[in-house]
Amino acid sequence: MSLNDKSVVVTGGASGIGLEVCKRLLESDAKGVAIIDILENVDGIGQLRSTYPEKNILFIKADVADKTAIDEAYEEITKSFEYLDIVVNVAGIFNDLDVSRTIGVNIGGIINSTFAAMNYMSKEKGGRGGIIANMSSVVGLDPLFLMPVYTSTKQAIVGFTRSLANEIYFEKAGIKFIILCPGATITQLFTNFTEKIIFPDMGDVAYRVLDRLHKQSPADVSKCILSAIEQCENGSIWIIENKQLHPIKMTRYWTSIEEKV
Ligand SMILES: NC(=O)c1ccc[n+]([C@@H]2O[C@H](COP(=O)([O-])OP(=O)(O)OC[C@H]3O[C@@H](n4cnc5c(N)ncnc54)[C@H](O)[C@@H]3O)[C@@H](O)[C@H]2O)c1
Repeated sequence: MSLNDKSVVVTGGASGIGLEVCKRLLESDAKGVAIIDILENVDGIGQLRSTYPEKNILFIKADVADKTAIDEAYEEITKSFEYLDIVVNVAGIFNDLDVSRTIGVNIGGIINSTFAAMNYMSKEKGGRGGIIANMSSVVGLDPLFLMPVYTSTKQAIVGFTRSLANEIYFEKAGIKFIILCPGATITQLFTNFTEKIIFPDMGDVAYRVLDRLHKQSPADVSKCILSAIEQCENGSIWIIENKQLHPIKMTRYWTSIEEKV
């Protein structure tokens, strides 16, 4: 899918990986970007607007965990954007000490934004289809013992998105779903890491593990995300590690009847 002239929603687009995704989308000639975030990054978004004065750049302050607020945010976005073509659900947190908030934001947030977007993008509902990219992580594929709560939310995102990336939905809605799984990326997410892990006595081990990981920048990751979106293969899963994009296939251990329906 070409990014040219597309209208895009990015949750968590006010900072970190999400902000870099917005920059790169605008650079790639997207028509407009709507950012949904709880953080009002006035400087970051102001800079986007001054670099791309001709583009439609919206900011909506809303919490992805709040279904009503997200439904209202999409309603507002669609007043300015004729169609929604691409949604990149990036918003997420790491704090294993706050279990309900982590589940609410990381899983609830992706579900709220995906279903709200489908209402406007689905061909069945007058939209023109498109692509929804959901942010998981490498720990969404294989667990990291240091972060069991965060890991469980990222694995849930894989299950949720794979469920929707089914031909049955695609035929009705014309929407493709992809899963993004970056490795360690230098952002605010891991600030005060050892204060947010569930077992405080794991602090030393945590530093050793973090030290060993390949690190990449949000700009490296955003470049790979846009390439995955352009390749636009329904159900594709992408590891983004060491600044590179690798497609992966999940092993299937069980098959439902869906293929035979
Ligand atoms: N940094 C990494 O190493 C890494 C690796 C793999 C996956 N990820 C995932 O990438 C995504 C972005 O992370 P990041 O590293 O850029 O972190 P970040 O903290 O820099 O950015 C996250 C953004 O999401 C926003 N956000 C948080 N909670 C929100 C909510 N309830 N409603 C709306 N917006 C909210 C924040 O304000 C922020 O702008 C997250 O989903 C994270 O789990 C990060």
